[in-house]
Amino acid sequence: MTILCKYTAKIPDANGFVNYTPDENQVWHDLFVRQQAVVVNRGSDEFIHGIQLLNMAADHIPQLPEMNDILKHKTGWQVEPVPALIPNELFFELLANKKFPAATFIRHRDELDYLQEPDIFHEFFGHCPMLTDQIYADFTESYAKKTLTASDADRAYLGRLYWFTIEFGLINTLKGLRIYGGGILSSKAETIYAVESPLPQRRPFGNGLDALRTPYRIDIMQPIYYVIENYRDLYDVMQKDLFGLIHQAQDLGDFEPQFDTEGAKTY
Ligand code: CO
Repeated sequence: MTILCKYTAKIPDANGFVNYTPDENQVWHDLFVRQQAVVVNRGSDEFIHGIQLLNMAADHIPQLPEMNDILKHKTGWQVEPVPALIPNELFFELLANKKFPAATFIRHRDELDYLQEPDIFHEFFGHCPMLTDQIYADFTESYAKKTLTASDADRAYLGRLYWFTIEFGLINTLKGLRIYGGGILSSKAETIYAVESPLPQRRPFGNGLDALRTPYRIDIMQPIYYVIENYRDLYDVMQKDLFGLIHQAQDLGDFEPQFDTEGAKTY
């Protein structure tokens, strides 16, 4: 099967700058303004703080050197420009070396609300702010290092862990339930739904075992979220017997999917 990708990443110049068109900067502007309003009281403090630290603003798509100077100083991370789709192996190798892969294209205006391929708004706005937090950044690095040593069967389970944390994670705070997952934080509708809707289940993340047993679909609002108590919970799962935990999940089996499985790819 051929995967058709309608977007192509833009090639940065020798100094790492990408020449975005006024239209592309305008799409960023509209997404940024809209999402900035929605993440108030829904995005975690670390996320909101990260947006400020990175000096992200509405007027232009952030440039890699601007982001990298700050990230390097805060946690030693960098954003690495990549083509739209890269092999898993390269993806994890980059993360293990504290390089966050980002394709440097932005969605078209007719896909403002949802697109399947992760664009620069998803990567920069959704993910990079959290990488200014040291424990969270260390978790991400450690996750990638473990994944590089995993068998294919174990990697499928590690993919679930990524999904329910880095992409769709929630956190309990003194101020209430907050979002730290970049998949949620780059979507207007899901940011509201994840915190306020009575529809999804919000299960405690605990030691991560239940998340490992939970199948997911990528093309719907999530019916299940896992809630951590603090970022150290994530880091600790990586330091303990992660593969033992995965094998326990394999022995116990998957939970029943909470979504329609007809004609949908389930992970
Ligand atoms: Co993502």
